[in-house]
Amino acid sequence: MKNGIMDPMKTIIKKIDVNQIDETVISEAGSILKQGGLVAFPTETVYGLGANALDEEAAKKTYAAKGRPSDNPLIVHIADIQALEEIAVNIPPETEELAFHFWPGPLTMIFEKSEKVPYGTTGGLDTVAVRMPSDLIARELILAAGGFVSAPSANTSGRPSPTTAEHVREDLDGKIEMILDGGSVDIGLESTILDMTVTPPMILRPGAITADMLEKVIGPVSVDETILGSESEQAPKAPGMKYRHYAPKAKLTIVEGTLREEVLAIRQLAYAAFREGKNVGIIATNETEKFYTHGLVKNIGTRENEKTIARNLYAVLREFDEEEVEAIYSESFAIQGIGNAIMNRLEKAAGHTRIAAAPIVEQQKYRRVIFLSNTDTSRGPMAAELLKHQDLVQEYAIDSRGLIVLFPEPANQKAEAIMKSGQMTLEGHSSVAFAEEDMQEDTLILAMDEGQKSKVVSEYENTKNVYTLNEFLEDDTQIPNPYGQPLTAYGECYEILMKLIEKLTNKLNAFTKGGE
Ligand code: TXA
Ligand code: MG
Repeated sequence: MKNGIMDPMKTIIKKIDVNQIDETVISEAGSILKQGGLVAFPTETVYGLGANALDEEAAKKTYAAKGRPSDNPLIVHIADIQALEEIAVNIPPETEELAFHFWPGPLTMIFEKSEKVPYGTTGGLDTVAVRMPSDLIARELILAAGGFVSAPSANTSGRPSPTTAEHVREDLDGKIEMILDGGSVDIGLESTILDMTVTPPMILRPGAITADMLEKVIGPVSVDETILGSESEQAPKAPGMKYRHYAPKAKLTIVEGTLREEVLAIRQLAYAAFREGKNVGIIATNETEKFYTHGLVKNIGTRENEKTIARNLYAVLREFDEEEVEAIYSESFAIQGIGNAIMNRLEKAAGHTRIAAAPIVEQQKYRRVIFLSNTDTSRGPMAAELLKHQDLVQEYAIDSRGLIVLFPEPANQKAEAIMKSGQMTLEGHSSVAFAEEDMQEDTLILAMDEGQKSKVVSEYENTKNVYTLNEFLEDDTQIPNPYGQPLTAYGECYEILMKLIEKLTNKLNAFTKGGE
C-alpha cells in the first residue's frame, strides 16, 4: 500500500450503523489495517485514527497523517482481555478488578510493554497504554484487524479531538485510507489514563472514569499534579499532555465565580467588546444562555447533566474556529465527576487563562434604571427612551413605571409627537404599574418629582436606591408636568429631560471608571 502522505489518496468514507453492522465494511476496513493502512473509526470517547499497533511502519504513517511529534506514544486498543497478556508484562493484580469494572469502556491503563510492541508505537517508551473500547464498531474493527489497533484521536495535531466523522474528514481527508462514519460519539472526551506501573496507580489524564470511581474498586489512586492549574513546573507524565493541545484561533478565557457572577461578568465583557465593535463568543449552558444580550452565544449543554457538556465541548470549540470572533469567554464547571475532565480540556484550550468574575461584577453598580412617574405615559417613557439613546459604557435594562396605572395605556400622543421630532419614538409603549419586585439591589429608581418619591419611600422598605432624578444628579431643575397642556409644554419638558439625561449618562458612566 502506498504512503498516502507523499501521494494524496482518496479517503473512502463509509457510513456504518452500530445497530446493524455491515460485516463487509468491517472486513474491508480490517484488511486495510492488516496491510498497514490507516482507518479512522468511532469509539465511545472520540474518533480514533486506527493502525496496526504491531507494525512500526503503520505507526510512522499515523504520526505523519496527524502531524504529530513521534515521541508521543499511541494507545493500543484491544477487544478481549487475553490480548492484554500478549502486549503487557508484570501486570499488577489490581488490573483484573479494574478491567472487570471498566472494560470495555473509557479507561486506558499503562503497563510495562512486551517485546511484541514496537517502540514506534510507544514513542520509544518501555511502557504501553492499553484500552478496550466499548463501541461495537470499534470492537469489531479491532478483531477484523488482528486484535491490536493503535489509535490516537483522529484529529490533526493541535485541533480538538473529533466527535463526528465530519470532524475527521475536515482534518484528515486525503491523508488516510478510510473513515468509518458511525455518527456522533457518546462521551466526547478522551479516555481516563491510569498509570499502573506506579503504586498507587496514577491518573495521567482525567476522563469519564473518575478518581472516585477507580478508588471504589482499588482504593487510593494518585493524580498527576500537572493535570489542573498552571502552577506546576513539572512535565506531565503522559507525554501528550505537555503539548498545548489545542488553542482556539480566538483567545479563550475561563471566567470563574458563582454562576450568577460568571454570567454577569461575561455579559459585561461582551457588552464592552460590542462597544468596541468586536464580536465575542460565549460558551454558555441551557441554564444561562438566555441571559446573554451581546456576543455569539453557544449553548454547550445542560448543567443538570454534565455529560451533555462533555459531549459538545470539542464541537463547540471547532465551531468557534469557523466564526469571526475575536475572543471567547467560557463559564466554568464544577471540578467533580466528569467536570474534572471538562475543566482539564477547557483549561488546556485556554492556555490556563482564567479570570475572576467578582471584581468585574463589582465594577457595575446598577444594572437596571427605572423612571417613575404618575401614569407612565409621558415623562417616564420619554426619559427612558432618551436614556436608551445615550452612549452608555455599561449595559442597563431601562424601563419606566407608573404609580397610578389601572390598565395599560399607550404613550401620550403629544409626548410621542415631541419624541418623533427628535428621531425617537414611544410607539409600542404600554404603561406598567410600579411593583414591589422592581425594587432590587441593582436597580436605580428615578422619580420625576418629590411626590412620587415620597410615596414609594412611605409604602416600601429598602428604598435606598430611590431618588428623584434631580436629587440623584444634584441639580435643582424641576421637571414640569406637561399633562393637559399644549404641545409646547411637552417640548419644554423634553428639553429639560434631555439635559438631565445627558447628565445622568455622565454620572452612570463615571461609576464605571470606579468613581462614585
Ligand atoms: O479516548 C481515547 O483515549 C482516544 C480514543 C481514540 O481511544 N485516544 C486518544 O489517544 O486520546 P491520543 O493519542 O490522542 O492520546 C493518548 C495519550 C497521550 O497523551 C499520550 O502521551 C498518552 O496517552 N500515552 C500513551 N502511551 C503512554 C505511555 N506509555 N505512557 C504515558 N502516556 C502515554
Ligand atoms: Mg489526542
